[in-house]
Order: sequence, then C-alpha cells, then structure tokens
Amino acid sequence: MTYNLNALLERAKETAEKAYAPYSGYRVGSALLCKDGSIFTGCNIENSSYSLTLCAERVALFKAVSEGQREFVALAIYVDSDKLFPPCGACRQVISEFADDLRIVYASRLETIESTISELLPGAFRL
Ligand code: THU
Repeated sequence: MTYNLNALLERAKETAEKAYAPYSGYRVGSALLCKDGSIFTGCNIENSSYSLTLCAERVALFKAVSEGQREFVALAIYVDSDKLFPPCGACRQVISEFADDLRIVYASRLETIESTISELLPGAFRL
C-alpha cells in the first residue's frame, strides 16, 4: 500500500491541537492508518486523577478497533514541543497486540524519527 507518511503526520499534528493536557502541558496527537485506507486520530486526554490519563496513541487505536478495524499500516505521533519522545511502554504493548511490523513515525516541532513497533518493543508480551 502506498501512502504519504508526511500527510499522516500532518493529521497527527492537527489532532494535537485537540489535546486536553492542562496538567503536563504536552499536547500529543496521533493518526493511525488502517489497511483499508481509513485514518483514525487521537489526542492525549488528561485527568486530575493523573493515572487515568490516556495517551494519544491508545485513543486512536481504540477508536479504530471499536469501529471494526484490526489491520494497521502506520502510526504517526506528534508532540507540540521542542522535546521529542517515543510512544510510552504501555502504548507500545497495546500497539503490538495488533501489529508486528507497524511503521511508526514520531515527531516534535524540531525532529522526526521513523521506526517500527518491533524495533520499539522487541519481545512484546503475548499470550
Ligand atoms: N503521552 C502520550 O499521549 N503518548 C505517549 O506515548 C506518552 C505520553 C501524554 C500523556 C500525558 O498527557 C502527557 O503526554 C505527558 O506524559
């Protein structure tokens, strides 16, 4: 499947504007491309009970799965910050449930890195 990773990252960037992040100030957006060409987006949603916060990646993935999607091609993540961070460990585990070789691009205002879920989470837990 041919697709434009920059366009996917642009969707993630737009979605970061919707983040609810009054506690950390990190506005994160994600865009997940499904095998059928559809795209699901997500932003981080924080809570005053901090541990209930949801990451942008899991919001996009859960939206997609709850709409019947099971096969994914690429995930773009954007953080509206100079600081770049890769997806957290919890999100890596959740992503790896659905894809062994998902392409992942993560970016900040200053930097973009391309990777795959197997590179980011070798030896993922599987039942
Ligand atoms: N966050 C994400 O959205 N994705 C990640 O992979 C790591 C962290 C969010 C959660 C929280 O709202 C903020 O970034 C700081 O941890």
